[in-house]
Amino acid sequence: MDKLKQLIDKLEETSRLSKEEWIFLIENRSETVAEYLFEKARKWQHKYYGNHVYTRGLIEFTNYCKNDCYYCGIRRSNQNADRYRLTREQIIECCQIGYGLGFRTFVLQGGEDGWFTQKRLEEIVRAIRESYPDCAITLSLGERSKESYRRLFEAGADRYLLRHETADEGHYRNLHPAELSAAQRRQCLWDLKEIGYQTGTGFMVGSPGQTAAHLAEDMMLIRKLEPHMVGIGPFVPHHDTPFAAEKGGTVELTLFLIGLLRIMLPKLLLPATTALGTIDARGREKGILAGANVVMPNLSPTDVRKKYELYDNKICTGDEAAECRTCLNRRMESIGYQLVVDRGDFCQ
Ligand code: 5AD
Ligand code: FES
Repeated sequence: MDKLKQLIDKLEETSRLSKEEWIFLIENRSETVAEYLFEKARKWQHKYYGNHVYTRGLIEFTNYCKNDCYYCGIRRSNQNADRYRLTREQIIECCQIGYGLGFRTFVLQGGEDGWFTQKRLEEIVRAIRESYPDCAITLSLGERSKESYRRLFEAGADRYLLRHETADEGHYRNLHPAELSAAQRRQCLWDLKEIGYQTGTGFMVGSPGQTAAHLAEDMMLIRKLEPHMVGIGPFVPHHDTPFAAEKGGTVELTLFLIGLLRIMLPKLLLPATTALGTIDARGREKGILAGANVVMPNLSPTDVRKKYELYDNKICTGDEAAECRTCLNRRMESIGYQLVVDRGDFCQ
């Protein structure tokens, strides 16, 4: 116990642990140590962000994807996925509705869909930028060339989310077909940072084959990259994927890692993810109490929400979710936090 607390103190003070120390801490964690960690995590969260929880309006604009990641429900091989694309007008309308609800960050997320050419994407970004000069535009469109990222940045996008998924080459191989590589994905992240995007990365907790050593590598990669945001959520099996019968990740480990991220890089923007809310009815609240400070409610039209099914039983896809804002407001107030609607920039 003392050794574990010492490691947490060391991480808090120096922002670094060796790989062996990471592994030891993750493998030997306990409820008591987690409480010790979460208290520190909340202290840092309050120091930089008070009791504020930032919101980002998520627009899932296409579920066509050329990739075939083994874990993902919208992988190209899933013949049962009901594919859709929002038109440019529909995307703009989502922003209009979102703006009216108070959102000042729009996240355009989609599969890697060639229909949205560079030109079309730039037109969409430019249109949103012109109508909403006061809003942040976040893109989450997967791997692209540096030139493409640069032109989208010039068109007005300011943030980009691309989870590295796993820092370990071998583990990456087990989760993806051969045409994808961990190195290529990491390169995209360095490119994004260099261009000037506020950059988000992240990974799934409890993905098939994941070990404490892999998680240690994830933490060390994040330390090195120093992203502005890190999104982590439990792996949740999807019934139409090769991983249908695999075990999902746990709330407990996800929360522990959120706490560790908060004390390692105390200014991070850390979402309490939808996947966490999916495997536990109070998962997002627990995420905030472990150190998270962002939620990303869905702004997609309700008739397509069910179709953007990366994993089974995803929440906020029914009629009751037409207005997640109110629901999240209530949830955050119930734990003494306040939902805020400004851009929620990274604390400098
Ligand atoms: N369970 C949890 N998260 C998933 N993602 C994709 N499939 C799943 C799943 N089955 C995550 C990936 C991806 C992000 C958009 O969603 O980490 O980067
Ligand atoms: Fe979407 Fe509660 S946050 S319904």
